Amino acid sequence: MAANPFHLAWFLQGSSIQAWGEPWTGNISEDWMVPDMFLDLVRGMERACFDYILIEDSIYIGQNWRNSRDIFLEGGICVPRQEPSVVATLMAAATKRLGIVPTLSTFAYHPYLTARIVGSLDQVSSGRAGWNMVTGSSDYSAQNFGMDKLPEHDQRYLMAEEYIQVVKQLWGSWEPGAIVADRDSGVLIDPAKVHTIDYEGKYYRSRGPLNSGPCPQGLPVIAQAGGSKSGRTIAATHADTIVAAPNGVAAMKQYRDDVRAQMAALGRNPDDCKVLFLLSPIVAETEDQARWYADQRRVSAEKNIEARLARFGWSTNLDLSGCDLDTPVSQLTLTTNGHQSSLSQFLTRAGDKPLRQAIVDHVSVGYCVDVVGTPHSVASQMDEIMHEVGGDGFLLVLGDVSRRSVATIMDGLVPVLQQRGLTRRAYQHAHLRDNLLEF
Ligand SMILES: Cc1cc2nc3c(=O)[nH]c(=O)nc-3n(C[C@H](O)[C@H](O)[C@H](O)COP(=O)(O)O)c2cc1C
Repeated sequence: MAANPFHLAWFLQGSSIQAWGEPWTGNISEDWMVPDMFLDLVRGMERACFDYILIEDSIYIGQNWRNSRDIFLEGGICVPRQEPSVVATLMAAATKRLGIVPTLSTFAYHPYLTARIVGSLDQVSSGRAGWNMVTGSSDYSAQNFGMDKLPEHDQRYLMAEEYIQVVKQLWGSWEPGAIVADRDSGVLIDPAKVHTIDYEGKYYRSRGPLNSGPCPQGLPVIAQAGGSKSGRTIAATHADTIVAAPNGVAAMKQYRDDVRAQMAALGRNPDDCKVLFLLSPIVAETEDQARWYADQRRVSAEKNIEARLARFGWSTNLDLSGCDLDTPVSQLTLTTNGHQSSLSQFLTRAGDKPLRQAIVDHVSVGYCVDVVGTPHSVASQMDEIMHEVGGDGFLLVLGDVSRRSVATIMDGLVPVLQQRGLTRRAYQHAHLRDNLLEF
């Protein structure tokens, strides 16, 4: 392996229909309920020795365009969304070494349920489960759970701190060796090794113990994606892996250095958390072909500006349909109680551009850094980025998930990365956390 190999993971934007209307997606509108394509995806990821798949989730149907759901339903924009923990279980059954990390939102699941769902996934996957801890982004999702709106942004992170404490304590409510399974005495579990947690917090209460039993990893892996100050702090405190999308190499390095410094200040070993950066590489046989595919993002965006603005509004809890497309973004006072770092990045990139041009430019380049080319040139670009940033890897995402686009990564790009020793060619460990800590 190279001096500093890096990790690979996949960001699945929602566990259901992907890329409706995109080429090479077969009979997706008929086949989507049974996630065979995702099982092929995770088998490909395991062949390519990825660390984990992160299944994104948001629990609502968008209504962020003219206060209507039409554009979301007609275009299949972030809907339908199956329950990620159900699809995660199928993925665990279809793989042996790949980590499976579903998203469970803190405002929707009681922490006892999250501890149980992820703990059970860790058991059925023999120690490969993780949990992507998110605090939500939309008031529409809050209204599905009897709330008028989500709590204030920083308040959500304060609540999430308690939430994680409850989940971790429940995972820890079974001591190692609690299951004695002594056939002579007939005792299955040693009562002295299973404990209540009696958690009485400002926001959450839970007695415990966790009734689903011990987790093979002890504590399943926690993933987090906070970009704001409070988001980074909770990630530095609890995350085993952070997924992030800062703008450009300098911001990626600054983000990682900041999180590592916060971890050290908290007495954690910074190497105990792997920061993976969102990347949507466009890979093709020739540079020209790859550039052509890359340019299609702008062609498609210019034809679908309303859909792009609606999608952006979906993750920033904004309805931009009332904005004049020719108004400079700097003159639109946009704020959000949703994904604050996502909005601030857009505003930074947009500057004084008219809204029309700003959204087209925003969606016509990849996350973090735009990486386009042949397998060899993309591998060199990824290697160079990691050298400058210092680690720890990439969370790959494609806008047009199809068996063909996935094959360009698993069978085109990754073999080149492996041949150069930049990513692993074989798993050394059975548990997700151990594979994350391998390098
Ligand atoms: C790679 C990545 C994956 C994310 N996945 C989800 C998700 O599945 N569900 C969700 O509600 N938010 C998700 N988020 C949003 C984050 O949880 C967080 O709300 C967002 O990064 C804004 O954080 P901030 O408010 O701390 O700036 C994701 C963000 C990133 C960068």
